[in-house]
Parts: sequence; structure tokens; C-alpha cells
Amino acid sequence: MPTTVRTATHRHYLMCRPTYFTVSYAINPWMHPENAVDTELAIAQWERLRRTYLDLGHEVSLIEPVPGLPDMVFAANGAVVVDGLAFGSRFRYLERMPEATRYLEWFRTHGVEHGVRDAYLPLAVAEGEGDLLTTPDRILAGTGFRTDPAAHRELAEYVDRPVVTLHLVDPRFYHLDTALSVLDEHNVAYYPEAFAPESRQVLADLYPDAVLADEADAVVLGLNAVSDGRNVVLPVQATGLAGRLAERGYQPVPVDLSELRKSGGGPKCCTLEIRPSHVEGRVENG
Ligand code: ARG
Repeated sequence: MPTTVRTATHRHYLMCRPTYFTVSYAINPWMHPENAVDTELAIAQWERLRRTYLDLGHEVSLIEPVPGLPDMVFAANGAVVVDGLAFGSRFRYLERMPEATRYLEWFRTHGVEHGVRDAYLPLAVAEGEGDLLTTPDRILAGTGFRTDPAAHRELAEYVDRPVVTLHLVDPRFYHLDTALSVLDEHNVAYYPEAFAPESRQVLADLYPDAVLADEADAVVLGLNAVSDGRNVVLPVQATGLAGRLAERGYQPVPVDLSELRKSGGGPKCCTLEIRPSHVEGRVENG
């Protein structure tokens, strides 16, 4: 029986329809350009995800997809927004580099109406919420495959919040959001084996009550989940993790994104959270 009652808080997400989704290059071990991709199915699965957020009462904004940028559907990589400040992206691989301007421009054009007061282009490689996961107390920042530790320092300075560097060691879990999920203000779920020993220790110290995932959960990208504090939208295949979340009072909300997984992405990859300056209970000036 769940012992804790969890509270959902209203969220605002940015998403990008997978109109031009395909797997035409390989920049992570999930991607096999020789295998067929069903773009129509990817769109239908993505539509279900968007619908799921709307049904949960959240707001979803859309950015226009661009032909020739098949991974642009993974909006999480476009930026990380902390307290109304959009820290943009600088992609590791050539194939995705043009996405950065699209997302930065979106925040420069539409940011103000959504409570985003500035947008910044980092100097070091940074792949948005793929590697930079926000909590009220700190930002958990992954490195090892994509985001450069220099970007962790840039982010800490830009948003004035502590950034904790975590080292990823398993190429299947190349972005932090494939190995760790922020569940609420104080807790996370993660797959310990995806992290270097010293980072595992850091996580164990920071989150003694974390929900631990096993390899079966991780290999279906179960940790690529989106939580509103109560409802946790996660891949339907991650049944073990769903059970453990339910035991802890969270409400698992399964979705099937099997087609997008062919590119190494799940629900969280498709979802960039817009956090305006007035949320998270931070004290404002004036
Ligand atoms: N094919 C994309 C890449 O390798 C997938 C990105 C998934 N996004 C994420 N936030 N993990 O960059």
C-alpha cells in the first residue's frame, strides 16, 4: 500500500512533432540506419504522449519541425529552462547542430509570453535537459558522452544554482535522462550501473530514498520518464519500475514510444519543461 500521497503540480512543456523523424545516422548505440522506421507510427505515438500531458492538465507548446533534422523531436535536448532562464544547446555531433538555433530562436521569440526572460547560447557542448536535470535545490548534470563539464560550470554561473556533475559510463545511457529521472522536488529514480562509482556514491548520499531501477527497466528507457510530482509518464515496457513507483505512491502513466526508441529516445527526450521565473517557490526581487 502506498504510504505517501503525492501532489502533482502544473507543468508547461515544449514539444516538436516528429514529422520528419527517421534514423538516417547513428550517434548512439540504439540507432541503426539500416532498419526501417515507421514515421506515421512515430507521429501517432507522439500524439498520444501529447494527449497524455493535456489529459493530466498540463500545457503543451509546439516548435515547428524542420526537414532534414530527424532528431528535432527530442525537444529535451533543445535547452534547459531554470527560473525563466533558457540555457540553450550546443550539440556534440554535426548532424544535430542546426537544431540549437531553432530552439534558441523559439525562446527568443516566444519566451517572454511564457515567462522566460532570457536565452543563452553556451560556449561548451551542452545538450539541454538530456544531460541537465533541474531540481529546486540543485541541477544534476551528466557528462561522459555528450555534455562537456565546462558547460556544467557555465550553467551554474548563468542560473546561479548549484550544479552536481555525474559521470555516465554505459554508452546505452548516453544522456543523463536515460539513466535518471527527477520524480519530485526531493527525489529521483535512477539506474546505478549507468554511473561511475564516485557518482553512484554522490547519488546515494543526496537521495537515500531514491527509487532504484534495474537493467530490465533501463534497457527499455524506463528512466526516460516525465513526472509532475505524482503522475510519472514512462515507457509501457518498464513494468518493473512502474510497480516500484506505485509502491512509493506515484502514479505510473505508461505510454508506448517504441518507434522513437529506435533513435534512443523516450517520453522525456520528447519533452522540454518550461519553468517560468515565478514557479519553484523562489524569492523574487522587489
Ligand atoms: N538520437 C538522439 C541522439 O542521439 C536521441 C536523443 C534523445 N534525447 C534525450 N534527451 N535523451 O542525440
